[in-house]
Amino acid sequence: MTGNSLFEPFKLGELTLANRVVMAPLTRNRAGNGFVPGDLAAEYYAQRASAGLIVSEATQISQQGQGYQDTPGIYSQAQIDGWRKVTDAVHGKGGRIFLQLWHVGRVSHVDLQENGAAPVAPSAIRAETQTFVNNGFADVSEPRALELNEIPGIVNDFRKAAANAVSAGFDGVEIHGANGYLLDQFAKDGSNVRTDAYGGSVENRSRLMLEVAAAVAEEIGAGRTGVRISPVSPFNGVSSSDPQAQFDHIVDGLDALGVAYIHVVEGATGGPRDAAPFDFGSLRKRFRNAYIANNGYDLELATRSLGEGKADLFAFGRPFIANPDLVDRLKTNAPLAHLNPATLYGGGAAGYTDYPAIGG
Ligand SMILES: Cc1cc2nc3c(=O)[nH]c(=O)nc-3n(C[C@H](O)[C@H](O)[C@H](O)COP(=O)(O)O)c2cc1C
Repeated sequence: MTGNSLFEPFKLGELTLANRVVMAPLTRNRAGNGFVPGDLAAEYYAQRASAGLIVSEATQISQQGQGYQDTPGIYSQAQIDGWRKVTDAVHGKGGRIFLQLWHVGRVSHVDLQENGAAPVAPSAIRAETQTFVNNGFADVSEPRALELNEIPGIVNDFRKAAANAVSAGFDGVEIHGANGYLLDQFAKDGSNVRTDAYGGSVENRSRLMLEVAAAVAEEIGAGRTGVRISPVSPFNGVSSSDPQAQFDHIVDGLDALGVAYIHVVEGATGGPRDAAPFDFGSLRKRFRNAYIANNGYDLELATRSLGEGKADLFAFGRPFIANPDLVDRLKTNAPLAHLNPATLYGGGAAGYTDYPAIGG
């Protein structure tokens, strides 16, 4: 399976994917009822099952891990049962799907937390960002620093969530280590000024992400575990003074664990690919399993990067929203439909399941 085409099968861990096109995780805020994905979510993902792999929208591992209104969870039986409908629908169409596991850390609001508690973070530094809550945008709340003795509980919540994902029928999980959420907050020194074993040096700031990856891999198998990172993305107000050393070290650790893939947001998430200098080839060289590339890819760039050996798989985010049949459209070089920004977050079928396939 070394074909030089986006549309040939690829072996990922123990799975064989039908092609090298991945649907990137996309939050859509439509799980209002107990944060349980409903029938509409099953239809939405099944419509996109021709992707070689779907990575689900980010899904909180605990109530504490939630940062936006109506995002789904994977910590209650009702949530597991809701997700089972999604995985059955995708598998029924011959697709493969991983669940993205999420703890938002400081990117949250007291109105989303149990008893109005402060969101948790590596350090008590408020993010310069907003969240969507109570049907509108609001500044995130002032966080509190996690106590050292609370950290094993966070690792355990990831572990339990991974086990729940497997019992919901997922083919694997992707740990969300990107975009300024909890694990990225620990990794980057703009948000982490701890002086214990989880702050300070590159090794210490990488510790939580690597402990979570080890726990999840132990729970469900390294071959079913992937990790998403965004080394230079400033998304959600994070910054790092040494991203190359930091992420080289993290990827060395992930390689040692033998996880199935790293999913790398190259540049600023949804923005410029050359936002800051960074050698992504260094991550590729350090990691023996699959490299999924993301951020601003189109058919031409993905085909060229594959030919140059820069990545194995290519994740498309925004293009999948309005093009459920994106794989066919890329294969035939058909025109792509444009998404409607007004229906991205929240609502029902409009702008979610009503984008047609070509001829559909
Ligand atoms: C509506 C929307 C929701 C997103 N939700 C998530 C998410 O839940 N998890 C995540 O890691 N990235 C999320 N992203 C980022 C995308 O996965 C992707 O990295 C970004 O859109 C760049 O890829 P693209 O140029 O192919 O769209 C989201 C992006 C958009 C536009």
